[in-house]
Amino acid sequence: MTFSKDLLAGQRILITGGGTGIGKSIARHFLQLGAEIVICGRREQVLADTAAELMGETGGRVLFKTCDVRDAAQVEALLDWIWAEAPLTGLINNAAGNFIAQSEGLSPRAVDAVLGIVLHGSAYMTLGCGKRWLAAGARGNVLSIITTYAWTGSAYVVPSAMAKAGVLAMTRSLAVEWGGRGIRLNAIAPGPFPTAGAWERLVPKPEMAAAFEAKNPMRRAGRHEELTNLAAFLMSDAVGYINGEVVTIDGGEWLQGAGQFNFVGEHMSDADWQALRTRK
Ligand code: HXC
Ligand code: NAP
Repeated sequence: MTFSKDLLAGQRILITGGGTGIGKSIARHFLQLGAEIVICGRREQVLADTAAELMGETGGRVLFKTCDVRDAAQVEALLDWIWAEAPLTGLINNAAGNFIAQSEGLSPRAVDAVLGIVLHGSAYMTLGCGKRWLAAGARGNVLSIITTYAWTGSAYVVPSAMAKAGVLAMTRSLAVEWGGRGIRLNAIAPGPFPTAGAWERLVPKPEMAAAFEAKNPMRRAGRHEELTNLAAFLMSDAVGYINGEVVTIDGGEWLQGAGQFNFVGEHMSDADWQALRTRK
């Protein structure tokens, strides 16, 4: 264990999309560090299975509830349900939707799907928690998982790049507006950290996974524990003066060649693009 086991003791943290992938890894680590965790997502069984698995593994407490973060009414209902028992001390905006696609073929619904989850979902969650903390005069802490192409842009993931840029702008804006009232907001920009959800939509060929590693200065993908250590550090009082910051954890990937998915065009034929569009 990198940190003392009580680093997050007394904290109650909501992780959106915490049933899978990076969100689940963060939940596991935060439980090991003494936090109580709430996870949400659209699939109840995924949430129930993750909650049972993590409680069994760590002995901590995990609450779960379905919520589509694109729907402001569902977000409010979730936050009311959580606060009825006890307030949150922190929020991780982790839920996302994304896929690689040729931008000229994107339908309005495809654009809305990604912007709705990432941009609107993060805004509804952050504003919902923020207004409750401010009304109570309580401290709060928001960490959003973004990407390096939030500031570089990237081909083939344009709605995601637009949405993550918006979440970064929200983070920096509210850090100033709310910093003096006890709420801090930060972001993490990960490079490639393999997960089933991201890889099936964004890295559909083994040679693309290999290319990700080859183009990284460190010649490897990230390890989940590296990211979860950073998340724990940023959510802890040990670094209570970090506010409005985005911390990159990508092995130096974006400095080597900006635009994380710019390279995928050379791996994809017209037939490959069509197959991805129609895959369900
Ligand atoms: C073109 C696509 C498409 C694709 C979906 N659409 N996939 N268009 N290429 N590959 C279009 C559909 O045709 C539809 O438009 C519209 O998008 C909505 O699709 P639905 O399947 O109806 O939406 P929904 O069930 O709400 O699913 C949302 C989703 C899906 C975003 C499309 O992928 C999802 O549920 N994702 C959640 C998990 C996820 O994305 N994880 C990865 C995060 S990784 P039409 O007009 O046809 O109806 C990440 C980091 C990246 O963000 C960095 C990694 C290194
Ligand atoms: P993932 O496993 O697919 O996680 C996405 C989660 O979001 C799922 O649990 C999903 O659950 C939830 N979600 C999606 N739409 C939702 C909605 N409308 N309402 C509520 N929850 C929703 O992918 P991941 O790789 O762990 O990604 C996690 C975060 O890391 C994302 O913000 C992603 O952009 C970021 N990131 C990942 C990488 C990487 O290399 N993996 C790199 C950079 C940034 P349901 O489907 O059940 O709703």
